[in-house]
Amino acid sequence: MNSKRVISNEKAVACLVLISLFMAVAAGNFYNDFDLTWGDGRAKILENGQLLTLSLDKASGSGFKSKNQYLFGKIDMQLKLVPGNSAGTVTAYYLSSLGSTHDEIDFEFLGNLSGDPYILHTNVFTQGKGDREQQFYLWFDPTKDFHTYSVLWNSQVIIFSVDGTPIREFKNLASKGIAFPKDQPMWLYSSLWNADDWATRGGLVKTDWTQAPFTASYRSFNAQACTWSSGSSSCSSKSNNDSWMTQSLDTTGQQRIKWVQKNYMIYNYCTDTKRFPQGLPPECSLA
Ligand SMILES: *[C@@H]1O[C@H](CO)[C@@H](O)[C@H](O)[C@H]1NC(C)=O
Ligand SMILES: *[C@@H]1O[C@H](CO)[C@@H](O)[C@H](O)[C@H]1NC(C)=O
Repeated sequence: MNSKRVISNEKAVACLVLISLFMAVAAGNFYNDFDLTWGDGRAKILENGQLLTLSLDKASGSGFKSKNQYLFGKIDMQLKLVPGNSAGTVTAYYLSSLGSTHDEIDFEFLGNLSGDPYILHTNVFTQGKGDREQQFYLWFDPTKDFHTYSVLWNSQVIIFSVDGTPIREFKNLASKGIAFPKDQPMWLYSSLWNADDWATRGGLVKTDWTQAPFTASYRSFNAQACTWSSGSSSCSSKSNNDSWMTQSLDTTGQQRIKWVQKNYMIYNYCTDTKRFPQGLPPECSLA
């Protein structure tokens, strides 16, 4: 009887451990989801795994990387960017596979002088080839509060969104001979670094190191995604909602993307005829 009791206590403890582990995972915990990969202590996980910060000073920037590799997913993260004079700094937040034929889905935030607008720079690489930049101003100050930056990536489309508003769509046009990222699992990365040779007004405005350290913050990571490990994929479906797998832009989404592109897009490779004198990339006329 005594030994039975001991066993059931052990079971109860194991059960509690499992429940709390599950809750930590469900809440999105930076300790579980990410490794701090560089920056020698400048990247920090705080508040029991609910907050992550990156910092940059003259000696180094910092960065983190997901533990998981993803092959399709809807991935959300809230970011609060470097406040004040952030000129010269770049906060990169992206999905990428490895190697010379890598695929990549990029958000990069280019800092600016106090009061001047950040640029949100986006790009899509397929089979190692990028050159698909689109840049935007934001319709809010991204340094005052956290805002949600999302990538929806399924077999048909990649949609970049900001606070749920789609800003960019990259369709699967493989049937027209245009490569689409669909075979290479990607890690999620973020880093904060100095790029004052090009980032702000094309490199005219330099980083003011008297303002260092510069800090960007992250919270509320959420991935409804297929994770890839040792050659096979497993698709989590919290609340059994797999709608992201087939999601595309609905009519409202199309209207909102038009609104963003009309009012906030400041560069589009698809209209840069000077840059592509031999003709614009093929997806530009098909999209
Ligand atoms: C910084 O502000 C200037 C002046 O408003 C603007 O031209 C530029 O696009 C802004 N952003 C960056 C990253 O240079
Ligand atoms: C599933 O998620 C989508 C958004 O990704 C939402 O619009 C839809 O209502 C959800 N469906 C259910 C049954 O929760």
